[in-house]
Amino acid sequence: MSIRNTLIALSLLLSASAWAGDDSLYRELGEKAGIARLMNDFSGRLKRDERIGTFFKETNPKALAEQLTDQVCVLSGGPCKYEGATMKNSHADLGIAKKDFNILVEVLQQSMDDASIPFTTQNRLLALLAPMHRDIVTR
Ligand code: HEM
Repeated sequence: MSIRNTLIALSLLLSASAWAGDDSLYRELGEKAGIARLMNDFSGRLKRDERIGTFFKETNPKALAEQLTDQVCVLSGGPCKYEGATMKNSHADLGIAKKDFNILVEVLQQSMDDASIPFTTQNRLLALLAPMHRDIVTR
């Protein structure tokens, strides 16, 4: 097999195993209750953050935490359903810059540090969130 075909076979295998219900990240994050606790803390911090808090001044932190909880639950392989808006639609008119996105990631890291989530687990979640910048950052 050529290297190219080997790589294709390997990536099919890896995506198949993710698709086949790998919920290890979901479990590492403490399942639904752990994720909900993390997202409650995170949405409160976002509102209080002096750099990006203004984006969230009209936001109900509890409602945002619920959407984030479902979203992260699904992303991490958990048995949830995300019924909120797409990332593109919900952020289209906000004028979010790359710098704002990076600050939000930093705030999430603070929440995860405070919840004593291991560094490798933190990075697994961040790796799933990072590509979303394409739909969220508009300026
Ligand atoms: C990976 C990064 C991000 C994720 C996963 C994310 C996720 C979400 C979700 C799930 C919602 C709720 C959508 C709904 O209610 O239907 C939302 C709304 C929102 N997001 Fe983000 N977001 C991200 C980045 C950002 C950034 C960088 C900002 C601004 C600095 C931001 C500002 C907002 C605001 C202002 C809302 C509206 C909240 C409201 O309805 O009052 N988001 N986001």
